[in-house]
Amino acid sequence: MYLGIDLGTSGVKALLIDDGQRVIGSASAAMDVARPHPGWSEQHPADWIRATEEAIAGLKASHPAELAGVKGIGLSGHMHGATLLDDQDKVLRPCILWNDTRSFKQAAALDADPQFRAVTGNIVFPGFTAPKLVWVAENEPEIFCKVRWVLLPKDYLRLWLTGEHISEMSDSAGTSWLDTGKRAWSESLLSATGLKERQMPGLVEGTEAGGMLKNDLASRWGMGPGVIVAGGAGDNAASACGMGTVGEGHAFVSLGTSGVLFAANSSYLPNPASAVHAFCHALPDTWHQMGVILSATDGLNWHSGVTGKSAAELTAELGDLLKAPSGVTFLPYLSGERTPHNDAAIRGVFAGLGHQSSRVVLTQAVLEGVSFALRDSLEALREAGTKLTRVTAIGGGSRSRYWLKSIATALGIPVDIPADGDFGAAFGAARLGLVSATKADPLSVFTAPVTAETVQPDASLRAAYEDAYQRYRRLYPAIKSVTS
Ligand code: XUL
Repeated sequence: MYLGIDLGTSGVKALLIDDGQRVIGSASAAMDVARPHPGWSEQHPADWIRATEEAIAGLKASHPAELAGVKGIGLSGHMHGATLLDDQDKVLRPCILWNDTRSFKQAAALDADPQFRAVTGNIVFPGFTAPKLVWVAENEPEIFCKVRWVLLPKDYLRLWLTGEHISEMSDSAGTSWLDTGKRAWSESLLSATGLKERQMPGLVEGTEAGGMLKNDLASRWGMGPGVIVAGGAGDNAASACGMGTVGEGHAFVSLGTSGVLFAANSSYLPNPASAVHAFCHALPDTWHQMGVILSATDGLNWHSGVTGKSAAELTAELGDLLKAPSGVTFLPYLSGERTPHNDAAIRGVFAGLGHQSSRVVLTQAVLEGVSFALRDSLEALREAGTKLTRVTAIGGGSRSRYWLKSIATALGIPVDIPADGDFGAAFGAARLGLVSATKADPLSVFTAPVTAETVQPDASLRAAYEDAYQRYRRLYPAIKSVTS
């Protein structure tokens, strides 16, 4: 048995697979995000442990014998968060999350130093870890001087599970301190932010061992000694392991809190100019590119909060039949945007409202706005040398058939829907646990699920979608000076 633990933004999911990679059971526990100021987004690491304990307790209640048989654990987590610890491993402040944009000035200053893009292959986005540390140094110097360790969120869970300060390449590539081509910390980038390599965790590949489960936790969960905790991966690379998105040309679109268009690459292909992320994959000698939009289901959830209708009610109201864009355009920049704008200050907008703009019309515009944001990412990947011919959809938002049709039509490529099953980050993490514990060949383990159905672009609406996308493109420069 192998256990995957995915530390998501809205909750922790623990999932068990057997030696044949069949999902045996899963359990989740919810978590909140604190937004104490506009643009801020924080979580307390103690909540991650509480939620992980709760999810594993759920598995213990439903599958005690299988949980007891676990030989390997894989970790996945939301990326870029700054978890700051003192020399006793005590958490110094709440973790500053991936969608927190308070450090936009510090990010711009680091990004202006050419070595950052040259070494990391990425823009220094405000959501990345390095500018957050500069913000802490400038605004909370009493905390900065106590920082002994900077850990990524899932690596803090590892510390709790194993006692080790260890990270792996895929998540570390999102810090702005990793030499992404060489897969090693850059002393020079660390020192540009007032840090030293000794403050960073040791690095392993995602498929390698990154510690052993502590005896007290193993016995609490009924497990024997010697349970390996794999390096694991950032949530997107973990999902890619779950989806078999590991070979050149393979891609997925993820509709979670954030939206991601992810393409696997057999070589390192940076192109910061198009705001594409170029990160290490969770397997050795493999990289990936992705376009990241900050609000995907978050956009629909916001609309749900405003209208008092659940996301499921809103999409049900819209029906399954794709409609031509109504003329109302929504820009989903609720917490700024990464790809393609790298603009932390921009905010969302509805444009083109009329008396006839009902709740259903607004729901349609929200889904289309996210589809067009993903089209922007497709164009950015194209500029970075990756031409996608199809994608597989994952994440909570992919349950909406309307949304998948809208995405296929906006991207102009077919969207595959995997056969029923759980192929997300927790499954990918469990696979990483399996590879690490058994030394199996990753490529034989990270296979793609069977496609249940393919959603084709709607040819009759392609032209209307193209017009609407061009309107969408023109809106960003038009609203920039009034929303930021
Ligand atoms: C990726 C990113 C998000 C988080 C959220 O760069 O910021 O996808 O990992 O889970």
